[in-house]
Amino acid sequence: MKTLVIGTGGREHALALALSRDPGVSEVHAAPGNPGIGVFATLHDVDPMDGTAVAALARSLGADLVVVGPEAPLVAGVADAVREAGIAVFGPSRAAAQLEGSKAFSKEVMAAAGVPTAGSRTCTTPEEVAAALDEFGAPYVVKDDALAAGKGVVVTLDRAEALAHAAGCDRVVVEEFLDGPEVSLFAVCDGSTTRPLQPAQDFKRIFDGGRGPNTGGMGSYSPLPWAPADLAGRVVDTVVQPTLDEMARRGAPFVGCLYVGLALTAAGPRVIEFNCRFGDPDVQPVLALLESPLGSLLLAAAEGRLAEVDAPRFREGASVTVVLASAGYPESSSKGDVITGVGRANGVAHVDVIHAGTALAHGRDGDSLVTAGGRVLAVRAVGYDVADARARAYAAADLVSFPGMQRRTDIAAEPLGVVEGASLKES
Ligand SMILES: Nc1ncnc2c1ncn2[C@@H]1O[C@H](COP(=O)(O)OP(=O)(O)OP(=O)(O)O)[C@@H](O)[C@H]1O
Ligand SMILES: [Mg+2]
Repeated sequence: MKTLVIGTGGREHALALALSRDPGVSEVHAAPGNPGIGVFATLHDVDPMDGTAVAALARSLGADLVVVGPEAPLVAGVADAVREAGIAVFGPSRAAAQLEGSKAFSKEVMAAAGVPTAGSRTCTTPEEVAAALDEFGAPYVVKDDALAAGKGVVVTLDRAEALAHAAGCDRVVVEEFLDGPEVSLFAVCDGSTTRPLQPAQDFKRIFDGGRGPNTGGMGSYSPLPWAPADLAGRVVDTVVQPTLDEMARRGAPFVGCLYVGLALTAAGPRVIEFNCRFGDPDVQPVLALLESPLGSLLLAAAEGRLAEVDAPRFREGASVTVVLASAGYPESSSKGDVITGVGRANGVAHVDVIHAGTALAHGRDGDSLVTAGGRVLAVRAVGYDVADARARAYAAADLVSFPGMQRRTDIAAEPLGVVEGASLKES
């Protein structure tokens, strides 16, 4: 099977790497990819937002499967262009990607499907926002309706801050605050059937102890030894299947990864959000542990044949990913800082260094690897258990450095992850 992965980040690197390790996959291509993916796959300089160009590339390569990684091309309809060209694509249509593209739409679908989630009001005027804030009380949760590259959500005790955030958006969803550890569940979907992967947890704040601003994710681990064993099954029954049925009823069947962000509250799991793609870095440890082939799973989903495939199998043990971010992140990021030690870290047993924001700088003495974004690298390790995987990940991460490098020291140290939830109320 020839595969083509669309995107540039850590998620795409982890997906491409898992595909390259699938014996059923003969070729891995990426567009545009990144220097880490370029080590084992062929890169193509094609704009991931240009559906016509992506479909043309897929056709010229004779690709059997295209995997569209990020939300922006999915919401822009890139998967539709590939599907119309008659090529199997893992990733929802523009219409189905609205589950992530509009928070108000996702709440409407959840309400229609009876999915347990935070109570909410969709608001377009300051008066509506003020009334909704008072209805739900503090902590206040205000979400930009539209895609906002991880910067659309404010959770605060400060009513004025909540109002100010809403004032900067066209339409917002104001929600009830959900209390409890957060879990990510990735459900591979073919429009009517789903196969969930193993749950993971993501550390979102920039500093240790869950302090400081939110980021795209500073680290993650899987599995969650403390979580109920039937969590994935329960979420499929109460969240994923009803959502798939509702989307199919609306004529927008969801094919791809339905990312279910959950809060495990005292009243049970509640949906915090849907995304229409795998999450990064939370999918990285999940893919590290996936034992059954990724290519045939995603192809079966793309072709509407998931009911014929066995549930994905995961090896025993655990995996931990530690993100290395550049100076200034998350407010800004630093480009061009020279990175050292990636080769040595990658050489450590059971470790993969995943590239998220790197570039090759051409110099007189050859190419050097430099920073090119906020989250630069992720060091992922597999171990016997969470503590072992964590120790391996940090030992390898210690070998990597670049000016201004930031990383958390407490990823997966507190497997309950309640620290992050508690900080929301303090901040
Ligand atoms: N109702 C809620 N109660 C408590 N915390 C919440 C709630 N909604 C969101 N949050 C917090 O804010 C974070 C971001 O919210 P959400 O996941 O909806 O935004 P997003 O910008 O779409 O995130 P992502 O970039 O992961 O897609 C959540 O991970 C959670 O920590
Ligand atoms: Mg989201």
